[in-house]
Amino acid sequence: MDRSGKPRVVLGVSGGIAAYKACELLRRLTESGHDVRVVPTGSALRFVGEPTWAALSGNPVTTGVWEDVHEVPHVRIGQEADLVVVAPATADTLARAAHGLADDLLTNTLLTARCPVVFAPAMHTEMWEHPATAENVATLRRRGAVVIEPAVGRLTGKDTGKGRLPDPGEIFEVCRRVLARGAAAGRDLAGRHVVISAGGTREPLDPVRFLGNRSSGRQGYALARTAVARGARVTLVAANTALPDPAGADVVPVGTAVQLREAVLKAAEDADAVVMAAAVADFRPARYAQGKIKKREGREPEPVDLVRNPDVLAELSAARPRPGQVVVGFAAETDDVLANGRAKLARKGCDLLVVNEVGEDKTFGAEENEAVVLGADGSETHVPHGPKEALADTVWDAVVHMLNAG
Ligand code: CTP
Repeated sequence: MDRSGKPRVVLGVSGGIAAYKACELLRRLTESGHDVRVVPTGSALRFVGEPTWAALSGNPVTTGVWEDVHEVPHVRIGQEADLVVVAPATADTLARAAHGLADDLLTNTLLTARCPVVFAPAMHTEMWEHPATAENVATLRRRGAVVIEPAVGRLTGKDTGKGRLPDPGEIFEVCRRVLARGAAAGRDLAGRHVVISAGGTREPLDPVRFLGNRSSGRQGYALARTAVARGARVTLVAANTALPDPAGADVVPVGTAVQLREAVLKAAEDADAVVMAAAVADFRPARYAQGKIKKREGREPEPVDLVRNPDVLAELSAARPRPGQVVVGFAAETDDVLANGRAKLARKGCDLLVVNEVGEDKTFGAEENEAVVLGADGSETHVPHGPKEALADTVWDAVVHMLNAG
């Protein structure tokens, strides 16, 4: 904290074209009450100049260890920080950090920091996938840093692939959560792969119509964000959501229950935990009309026949593709919430079931949630009305407990 009680954040910027996006991250950090010290590398300054960082942060900006030496900045900045975030982190910066080099102010700061450290890498796909980078990332993660998986999309030039810096607003969300969780112990999902389904499936009737539901995907996205901040590798199977991709999550978009099943089962093969937060349609139209269904004057509409969809949660719970895998279900109930929840937990065979009461204006699409987390061992954790992130953290607490016990 600085003298006015603001958390101190060091924003390390390394030399990639995505450096301009760090300006937006810096704004978010300062506007939300953080005291930010920007430490760019020499090559970062070739992309965005010192005056920009100084003006946006309101703090002096230094790159080398030979400026303001009387203040011993190469030690002090790291020691005093509550969080260090490096965005973008280039392959070179990751390598220097992993090897403990100290050839500029940023790497010195990384060596003296005792606070949580977040890296948001951005580079071309080939560099990200190179075994050297992969090993450096694994080293940094093993030491407790959060290394956010890059996003997939347009890269510099004409290339498209994995390596994009995630949306600055989403990197900010990771920083906020990592700061809130504090010490490295907060990264209790490090080395774990978790799969989350989110949103609601749509079952097509014809090229323009579908049977759907009102799930927004917010709870699943909150689970993904919190899992990233706790150090997990996250696969988010997203059914018809309209939310920004959470930084660090591999997002697999799907439409129908059958597509969702395929994506979840594939990702679950090496997953430590699977959380089924999606609202999966139990039924789908038996027939899909190739052309739009038209109304016919003077005639009643044809009835819509439905067939059962696979129950992904029950299938996963029975199969457990990986030994010790924890499977979590969600249940939306309108009445007799706890009794129905217990019965559903037993019927589906999962380890945990998050039960919430739904109605016209409750839960669906809302920012807040209230729920009970039921355990197959008889446990019952009530989560008071609050942000969906709080419920997500309670779910991960229970998952971590089970993974560590197993
Ligand atoms: N689920 C699933 N596959 C389905 C339906 C649901 O995997 N075809 C999962 C959801 O993702 C959720 C849980 O099962 O985690 C509860 O779904 P819900 O529809 O509430 O349960 P049902 O067994 O369908 O019970 P109900 O009779 O209340 O509809």
